[in-house]
Amino acid sequence: MLGYYKIITYGCQMNVHESEKIAGLLKAMGYEDCPAEGSADVIVFNTCCIRDTAERRALGNIGVVKAEKKRNPSLILAVVGCMPQQDGAAENIRQRYPYVDIILGTRNISRLPEEINKIISSRESKRRGDKRYRAVDTRLPDEYLSIDENTPTLRTSYPNAWINIIYGCNNFCTYCIVPYVRGREISRSMPNVLDEVRRAVDMGYKEITLLGQNVNSYGNDMPGGEVNFAKLLHEIDKIEGKFRVRFMTSHPKDLTEEVMDEMAASNKICSNLHLPIQSGSDKVLKDMNRRYDRERYLYLVSALRSRMPDIGLTTDIMVGFPTETEEDFLCTLDIVERVRFSNAFTFIYSPRKGTPAAQMEQIPYAVKQERISRLIKAQNRITKELSDGYTGKTYEVLCEDTAPKFEGMVCGRTDSGRLVTFDGGPSDIGKFINVKITASRSASLFGSREDI
Ligand code: 5AD
Ligand code: SF4
Repeated sequence: MLGYYKIITYGCQMNVHESEKIAGLLKAMGYEDCPAEGSADVIVFNTCCIRDTAERRALGNIGVVKAEKKRNPSLILAVVGCMPQQDGAAENIRQRYPYVDIILGTRNISRLPEEINKIISSRESKRRGDKRYRAVDTRLPDEYLSIDENTPTLRTSYPNAWINIIYGCNNFCTYCIVPYVRGREISRSMPNVLDEVRRAVDMGYKEITLLGQNVNSYGNDMPGGEVNFAKLLHEIDKIEGKFRVRFMTSHPKDLTEEVMDEMAASNKICSNLHLPIQSGSDKVLKDMNRRYDRERYLYLVSALRSRMPDIGLTTDIMVGFPTETEEDFLCTLDIVERVRFSNAFTFIYSPRKGTPAAQMEQIPYAVKQERISRLIKAQNRITKELSDGYTGKTYEVLCEDTAPKFEGMVCGRTDSGRLVTFDGGPSDIGKFINVKITASRSASLFGSREDI
């Protein structure tokens, strides 16, 4: 064994999955996951920059590691992913945190082993008087990916297997940093994705979550125009075995009738969709460059519900976009009441350097805060009302984990994506269990199992 590694992950599921690949790479080198009480030889911060809070949290924790590095000078410290990929950020991190050894952007993460080896050998030669080696690589070429088909994955979220189908984003919503830090869209080949799904199912994974910044544009970058997301879903559905399929994230402008048909016809694809709306105001949606309007969004909701009446719909909503007035915000509240999402992830708009919206005149933070609290209050009420509708009914739940706050209990999700807590133990993880819902508390449901 070469030593222990610790990976600290910020941000979205894509980052969680990429950390599984970082773990796979480190393990292949001979490092082992650091036990809770142990001290690490390699620490990797896999970062996010979607909002200011995500960046500040990571920077604060990188600062804390300075003391650890003092105690253990041979510790190798890497900062990778979205944060150093921003314009000028890698240089900034290099200067402000001189004890960081390796800085890699989103498309260079698989170079980590190579850079660790260089650091180790440069330390040996430093004793002979050479300058200390530090690695910075934030190249973002359109055509190449560093996390490629050969990067090993150390899956950490059984019974769910994350599977990436498309990298990058071409949409350039005016508030969003993602297209700048993750580059243009690159779809993985369909045979490679299908192979990975088959392997995960053969290994016993019971849920496959397909990942992409915009899964609905899967295949758009491929020549021939024969491959698209609906066809991928169709092929995945034909793979034998009992497992569920979810995917995220869908862009409302690209969700097709064909995809909705596949979802409705399939036994494996869950009746669950994350469809970020961002705002309920046509003016704000236009300023955000979202390229759909309220009418289109409401149409999609009714088209989905007419095919799948029990579909669980979740969304992302942002308040405080620079051009959002009180009236625009009321349009958002109105659409929230109309759609009745089972859950909404709500965000205060955070200006991101280099994006068009960051150049606009900003609205006061207090206004944003006041709006988000009204929004959360409305959504909590709706979530609770919808939760109450589950009581007394029985659902098939895939047990995911032991319940963190309740001894002798486990938790899992319904097909529609609702979290259910019920009696059970670690041996239930990965099993499909029929659970009768007996109580609800805001977003959580509680139930008793029907298999005993
Ligand atoms: N400020 C706040 N929230 C943002 N999101 C994306 N960019 C920003 C930003 N600059 C939100 C969007 C997106 C989710 C992943 O994060 O709602 O859907
Ligand atoms: Fe950002 Fe828009 Fe791309 Fe989503 S679709 S990652 S919000 S630019």
